[in-house]
Amino acid sequence: MTQLKVPLRHYLQFSDFSSEEYAYILNRSKVLKDKFKDYDTWHPLHDRTLAMIFEKHSTRTRLSFEAGMFQLGGHAVYLNTRDTQLGRGEPVEDAAQVISRMTDIIMIRTFGQDILERFAANSRVPVINGLTNEFHPCQVLADIFTFHELRGDIAGKIVTWVGDANNMAYTWLQAACILNFQFHFSGPAGYPLDMTRISASEQQHLKVFDSPLEACQGAHLVTTDVWTSMGYEEENQARLKAFSAWIVDGQKMSVAQADALFMHCLPAHRGEEVSSEVIDGPQSVVWEEAENRLHVQKALMEFLLCGKFN
Ligand code: CP
Ligand code: NVA
Repeated sequence: MTQLKVPLRHYLQFSDFSSEEYAYILNRSKVLKDKFKDYDTWHPLHDRTLAMIFEKHSTRTRLSFEAGMFQLGGHAVYLNTRDTQLGRGEPVEDAAQVISRMTDIIMIRTFGQDILERFAANSRVPVINGLTNEFHPCQVLADIFTFHELRGDIAGKIVTWVGDANNMAYTWLQAACILNFQFHFSGPAGYPLDMTRISASEQQHLKVFDSPLEACQGAHLVTTDVWTSMGYEEENQARLKAFSAWIVDGQKMSVAQADALFMHCLPAHRGEEVSSEVIDGPQSVVWEEAENRLHVQKALMEFLLCGKFN
């Protein structure tokens, strides 16, 4: 069983770290990115194993965690519900006890946040949220790192969300509160943010707009995501109708700042939540965002297992 070098911490939602810790992780992500691009070998996680548990589909999350762990000198094991005992009803608590005695760090993509929390409460090693119905903190961390690289500090800026009140939207709102920027949200009637999930301090960073065009005015970053997240597929037809005016298109980008960026966590549906002209246009940084999952998650795993360097 692994001996922890630093006190046990989990990364279950964006609010688990402070603004000072994010300043360190963003800086460290850049150091690790540059090191890797320079072929400068860095193996702080030699002999360590990452368990990756997937109860939903993934391309980016699986690949970025697996490649990242390899680059840090460790090894990653892919587990999914279909061919492990998790899919046959083994209690999450028992699985956490066992998996955390054989591995050193665990990433989970699952449905309810409660499942992740029950797993973490029974884990002897750090647990990372690789997406739940409620949050997707690794993606927003990569997005903020991308903004930081291209435009500098995000504090004081306006981030506009056009679309579904989903795991990404709630994570952005947590980030707005911790990193001190404004979050503009616009989605159709019938799909509002659940205000019972939003703290008083988060509300100070939130402005809700009926009109997606008004929400984009003056934005430094416009971002969206699929209208139907994994697990909600039976609502797809109703959502296609309800969200049709919430497409991020050239008109919406035209009222944002002249140097505004467009982000999407991917996978995307061109012609639904974003037009081809925007996602394939000059303001889009979706490929940078995807690549940066790798670099920020390396910094995250290093931080959770080794603490701070320098
Ligand atoms: N953005 C993201 O998490 O992608 P995957 O679903 O492919 O992992
Ligand atoms: N909101 C989407 C993100 C996919 C990466 C989902 O949960 O399916």
